[in-house]
Amino acid sequence: MAKQDIKDLDWKNLGFEYRDLPYSYNEEFKDGKWQNGGLTTESTLTLSEGAEELHYGQEVFEGMKAYRTKDGSINLFRPDMNAKRLNNSAKRLVMQTYPEDKFVAAVKEVVKVNEDFVPPYGSGGSLYIRPFMIGTEPVVGVSPSSTYTFHIYATPVGAYIKGLHPMPYVVSQYDRAAYAGTGQAKTAGNYAGSLLPGKEAHDAGFAGELYLDPRQHKYIDEFGGANFYAIGKDGKFYTPKSDSILPSITKKSILTIAKDLGLDPTETHIDVNDLDEFTEAGAMGTAAVISPVGSLTNNGKKHVFYSETEPGPVTQKLYDSLYGIQEGDAEDKYGWVEKV
Ligand code: PLP
Ligand code: COI
Repeated sequence: MAKQDIKDLDWKNLGFEYRDLPYSYNEEFKDGKWQNGGLTTESTLTLSEGAEELHYGQEVFEGMKAYRTKDGSINLFRPDMNAKRLNNSAKRLVMQTYPEDKFVAAVKEVVKVNEDFVPPYGSGGSLYIRPFMIGTEPVVGVSPSSTYTFHIYATPVGAYIKGLHPMPYVVSQYDRAAYAGTGQAKTAGNYAGSLLPGKEAHDAGFAGELYLDPRQHKYIDEFGGANFYAIGKDGKFYTPKSDSILPSITKKSILTIAKDLGLDPTETHIDVNDLDEFTEAGAMGTAAVISPVGSLTNNGKKHVFYSETEPGPVTQKLYDSLYGIQEGDAEDKYGWVEKV
């Protein structure tokens, strides 16, 4: 694949796709230690046909963004939390951990050398950063790898879910992750398992699928690539409490923002049969940012939230507050932003 020519980019219509940028970051773990990696122009990985990751899915990843600010500088949003979550995911998959300070430094290096590809302020785009780790040892039996590759690539993206336009979603009859399974880890298998539910949802005209708790199929868990929230008729902010969802960094931040906005945020079980209790709903995540849910269809019954065409007022406020901090327009009073 050819390297991306910057002249071919239309900053306002980037979509959400892979582009091969000048630099990536790579480091190998072998002989019991990380081997001093660094920036590389090589964006292809070479693996043994027996590599653990190819057969038994020993992979963990992160998703984060670099934002261009009005003054031309570049912001990262809580990169230390991505470093921590990668290691939590790695522990669940019996993988090596990667030093958290090195993770943040490596992300900054990748952004800096690819700086020209950070979309301009106001374009709606950002530089998506994808750190990941794979088990590389050739194995036949199911056991953890003793060698790993840690790698980071970056690619300029627009919104994953388009702007603040409400979209129709469907409650999936499938599970994303098992009860006491790998739902809290950001690992490839959870997403592989979501491909069929996602395809069926899209084929039926929905923007995506929402999973219920895998034990009872009663409480809302999360979307395939984002956490769920809803605004109650009581004006409060609700988001699912569950052991099978990804601990979203966006959600954690929104819980703080919602408290500041007087929305009395609560993490609790949300019964899928209680949708009438809510006036607004949305998806939240790095790629999704804040995306309003226009409607949710469960067992053929469609429930419309605030509107199918306009974002609700609380959703708009949450979006403005979060994106304002990320893009550097709003006060960063919790020190979430880190300059590249
Ligand atoms: N849930 C899933 C399944 C995800 O893939 C993501 C995306 O990273 C999220 C939630 C949101 O997490 P974060 O806000 O840390 O990006
Ligand atoms: C992210 O939001 O960073 C993710 O990894 C979600 C993915 C489905 C694009």
